[in-house]
Amino acid sequence: MNEYYKDAKSILVVDDDLSVRTLITDALREGGYFNIRKVESGIQALETFRKEPYDLVISDLKMPGMGGMELLSRIKELNPSTPVIIMTGYPTIGITVSAMKEGALDFLAKPFTIEDLIFKVDLHLKERSILTKEDLNIEKTNWNLNEKIRKLSTIDLIYEQIEKTVGDNDDIFRKIVMLALNVTGGEKCLLVLFDEANDKFYRKIFQIKGEHSISNEGEGDAMVESLKGFFKEVILKREVRLLNSEDPKSLYPSLICAPLMIRNKVFALITVTSRDTTCSFTHKDLSYMLNITTRTSLHLENKLLYESFFGSIMDTFESLVQSIHARDHYTERHSQSVTKLALNTARAMNCSAYEIESLKISSMLHDIGKIAIPDHILLKPGHLTNEEYKIIKTHPAIGENILRSIALFKDERKIIRHHHERWDGKGYPDGLSGENIPFHSRILGVADSFDAMTTDRPYRKALKTDKAIGELQRNCNIQFDKNVVGAFIHTVISPHLD
Ligand SMILES: [Fe+2]
Repeated sequence: MNEYYKDAKSILVVDDDLSVRTLITDALREGGYFNIRKVESGIQALETFRKEPYDLVISDLKMPGMGGMELLSRIKELNPSTPVIIMTGYPTIGITVSAMKEGALDFLAKPFTIEDLIFKVDLHLKERSILTKEDLNIEKTNWNLNEKIRKLSTIDLIYEQIEKTVGDNDDIFRKIVMLALNVTGGEKCLLVLFDEANDKFYRKIFQIKGEHSISNEGEGDAMVESLKGFFKEVILKREVRLLNSEDPKSLYPSLICAPLMIRNKVFALITVTSRDTTCSFTHKDLSYMLNITTRTSLHLENKLLYESFFGSIMDTFESLVQSIHARDHYTERHSQSVTKLALNTARAMNCSAYEIESLKISSMLHDIGKIAIPDHILLKPGHLTNEEYKIIKTHPAIGENILRSIALFKDERKIIRHHHERWDGKGYPDGLSGENIPFHSRILGVADSFDAMTTDRPYRKALKTDKAIGELQRNCNIQFDKNVVGAFIHTVISPHLD
């Protein structure tokens, strides 16, 4: 049977005010509790608790350094079944809710009477004594499980939000500022860019929770100015830092500053601050901020790497295309014009941003395979013999092969390979028909043919626009996809005709 022996119960009292500590200790003794230890700070309390667990902890909320909330969260990690009573002079709903979420058992609003105190201590210790060892183990497992789920879900949310942000770097910065405020419960968030060459910080975003950032620019600049010294420390150490000020008059009583880095170099800092010491950040908030910045840094580094890699590949291919242009001036103007027509058609047909980008690359490079066609065939002014035409017809497959080395261009290779297929299956290289021809190849095919028809060639004059439109219409569902021709004529060509 569980018995409730008051004098065997150990109680840890934590308050930075000596008179309050003494008052509580005296009151507890009067109530029959003698195994009491009093300490003056959260850090001391944690050290003491680590050495020997206590049956009950009574802690002040607002203390310099480690506040009551941080202590509560740390104690719960060490022993989730330890009851913790939090004392505060200002028990607002916000504080109460967050303390309860961290696992506080009860509140004592200052000033309290000795009777209040003894009643709560008696009640909670008695409750604990009724629980069996097994009950306590279940409670501990439950607590640990809930904590793990909460942490993992938050980290998962952070990753997901960062990964799914599309757009430029500014969009990513705006997203992580909102994330930082939401996961830490902070009041203000500042994102500064660091110019290493000139040793300067530039305010990028300053956000007060629930307000428009534009109206707070002045305050943001003042914050940059007052935290410069601290920023430099973070840059030097290249690690996230939590600062809970000992000074009650401090401008930023609790703040976390985390660096954003690429290749181990700090290029920006993100800082969250809390309203006051009663909402001090904890090591959990610190780890969330670390997750945000690590993930964002990785995301931006990948993006940068991709862009420079992609840029240099495109440069290589464009120089290949240029080498065809040097031989055949027709293809130069042709590639640009086909790209423009194909993209406008794709937009008219509601293609996604990804499809448009893919079609843009394919259109620019669609005739890249002509690099392998000898000059006497490619530049021949007259009609081609059957043999020569056969050679010309190899250019889509050669183009596909040139791009084969780049895994990134999988979709584009397909579009290029099939840009000379026909709806009736009489095209090349594979004789695909109807909807078996990739959709974007059908768009490219219409744009390509229209531009070829409306351009002067050595062996024939250019067709007038209306004649070329007529040709497209006449060949609907013979050479071309009827829907693509419809969108092309009505949205891309006709609106520009007089
Ligand atoms: Fe072609």
